[in-house]
Amino acid sequence: MKTKVKNICCIGAGYVGGPTMAVIAQKNPDIKVTVVDINAERIAAWNHNDLDQLPIYEPGLDDVVLEARNRNLFFSTDVDAAIDAADMIFISVNTPTKTYGKGKGMAADLKYIELCARQIAKVAKTDKIVVEKSTLPVRTAQTIKSILQNTGNGVKFQILSNPEFLAEGTAVQDLMAPDRVLIGGEQTELGMKAIAALVDVYSSWVPIENILTTNLWSSELSKLTANAFLAQRVSSINALSELCEVTGADVDEVANAIGKDSRIGPKFLKSSVGFGGSCFQKDILNLVYIAKSYGLNEVADYWEQVIIMNDYQKHRFAAKIIQTLYNTISGKKIAFLGWAFKKDTNDTRESAAIYVADQLIEEQANIVVYDPKVTAQQMQSDLNYLNTRSETENETFLTTIVDPYETCKDAHAIAVLTEWDEFKAYDWQRIYEAMQKPAFVFDGRGVLDHEQLRTIGFQVYAIGK
Ligand code: UDX
Ligand code: ADP
Repeated sequence: MKTKVKNICCIGAGYVGGPTMAVIAQKNPDIKVTVVDINAERIAAWNHNDLDQLPIYEPGLDDVVLEARNRNLFFSTDVDAAIDAADMIFISVNTPTKTYGKGKGMAADLKYIELCARQIAKVAKTDKIVVEKSTLPVRTAQTIKSILQNTGNGVKFQILSNPEFLAEGTAVQDLMAPDRVLIGGEQTELGMKAIAALVDVYSSWVPIENILTTNLWSSELSKLTANAFLAQRVSSINALSELCEVTGADVDEVANAIGKDSRIGPKFLKSSVGFGGSCFQKDILNLVYIAKSYGLNEVADYWEQVIIMNDYQKHRFAAKIIQTLYNTISGKKIAFLGWAFKKDTNDTRESAAIYVADQLIEEQANIVVYDPKVTAQQMQSDLNYLNTRSETENETFLTTIVDPYETCKDAHAIAVLTEWDEFKAYDWQRIYEAMQKPAFVFDGRGVLDHEQLRTIGFQVYAIGK
């Protein structure tokens, strides 16, 4: 097995695979990096001359792609050729929560991972290092290994776990200066050699003391745990936000006061309408499922409560809108500012906006959405995915306008669902004048200047205040 990697293939050109490989290629001009995907449209978008057409919006990503693309970074649909040529293969395919069968709604669906492993086994003619990049349940490496060893062509495989900790919206920054890189592998001579090969790739730009190496299972579990801890902080502060509302405390002041304790720290203490994104919920559900499968019911219940609290927060926000608008929102226009699960991304997976919209549509409100980066088609597909009502009904009750002022015109209320910076800079006086009165703002992200809004004449509801 070679220790110096020359040729990398990454299966899956999504939110994780695309940016990660772009940075690896940029920092290692001597390594050929090919990112492959079965989705031809996605690959075409990665190859588009107009960098605004890249399939993923991440600040700074266009410059990295511009520098490395067609130098040593390639995007292709020829999965077999890339596997064949590579000495190191990253698996970066999606692992959604299962929607059927055993573990439905909880366990990760490993269908795509297994298909990848089978494809690698079929195609590989030389020894390979296979790196799990997707977030996976603990001991998935065992599954991959078993498939590779039992169906392969007799070639040797080493499996590594190298979970990605990047957050969307800051992906490039996180990749350029990661808090840590984690690499797990088998504690055998060949395993250690494989770990060293991947350490070598990262050490082109990451200080060696920030590259942690562990056994496979620790690495896999660390990823789930990191996300569970972060999500738990959000649910903890969200739980307190309701208590603040009834007691007269201000959740931001509480968060600031506790965050000054260096043992607690200030991050991930912003109360909100609820966390979203592709990782938090999925990873906790995975943790819960694994704990249950080992009979650790107390452990499972403890972590499940983080999700229950998050669902409750979304529900509570929608209920507050309905109640404040005199318990009747049928036929009323409600403007949504933001649809993405957080700012600076076009990703909408598990976004709180979807659930709040769904609940308001149930009451027959007319939702009009403006988001700087999310397409109307994506919003409809998010709603349809919930499967609560027909596509035609969803299209009737939820529309999209590309201008924020038009979006808010004649609305009874504005709900802020994403913390896009541009919202703060709007001409709120102008927005107020064009709205129905009384005009309400429900700030689900705590981003606006509430005093200023109240001075203009708005009635403001902010979480935890
Ligand atoms: C997360 C992890 O941060 C990252 O390390 C991991 O690799 C993937 O999952 P991401 O989902 O991109 O990243 O977003 P993150 O910034 O963690 O935010 C997740 C959600 O929590 C967002 O909806 C955000 O708005 C919400 N959040 C975050 C809060 O409501 N309050 C906070 O204080 C922080
Ligand atoms: P993530 O957030 O984990 O990166 P995404 O859904 O954004 O997830 O990306 C995963 C990508 O993996 C998708 O573009 C999908 O088409 C691709 N994919 C899934 N299975 C395979 C496969 N067997 N071969 C190649 N690409 C795959």
